[in-house]
Amino acid sequence: MRIHFHGHACFEIEGEAGRILIDPFLTGNPSATAKPQDFTHLDAILVTHGHSDHLGDAIQLSKRTGAPIIAVFELANYCQRQGAKTYAMHIGGKHLFPFGWIKLTLALHGSGIESPDGGDMIYGGLACGFLLQMEGKWLYHAGDTGLFGDMELIGRRYPIEVAMLPIGDNFVMGVEEAVHASQLLRPKVVIPMHYNTFPVIAQDVMEFLHLLQRRVPETQGKALSPGESYEV
Ligand code: NI
Ligand code: MN
Repeated sequence: MRIHFHGHACFEIEGEAGRILIDPFLTGNPSATAKPQDFTHLDAILVTHGHSDHLGDAIQLSKRTGAPIIAVFELANYCQRQGAKTYAMHIGGKHLFPFGWIKLTLALHGSGIESPDGGDMIYGGLACGFLLQMEGKWLYHAGDTGLFGDMELIGRRYPIEVAMLPIGDNFVMGVEEAVHASQLLRPKVVIPMHYNTFPVIAQDVMEFLHLLQRRVPETQGKALSPGESYEV
């Protein structure tokens, strides 16, 4: 199974059982190396919340590939009204798809959808994270979130192979808190995300890797540049 990083919070999980895209913010993403047209076949599109740097090209990709958008009920409902194929879930629930298990987790964040006509924000429900089990391995994409103590519970209940954690600060956890999150989640590998895309979330990723190595030596930090992959 391969994890491709497409910049910001966008990851593509490619396994024997399927190809999953998470938070496909490609158009307008200064760090993206892929374009929406590059994706001809997808089995599912996972969207953690309604902010444009996560919902991104999801609706267009769903319409073109026929892949369902998997999201919380309120966001899935919005996407369906825009013509996308959807599969609604909610926090705490899991479902077995042909490619593997998906479980929605808590995330401390908003999920308002920017109105296309510049009007009031559209209600998008709660932001979430995703646990994904493919080929017997658990992956965790935290979405946008602050640090929360229940990460310990997630780590105790699921043996996480790879955790994708935000480190950008300002809107989400910063470097030090992402290290603390790694301590609670106890994954084998952490891939930092949601940093350096814009000046407001500029971070020194080496600082994260060094602090992680010092405080959580059993977890390996793996920083990917957009376009790079990691083999699980
Ligand atoms: Ni957000
Ligand atoms: Mn974001």
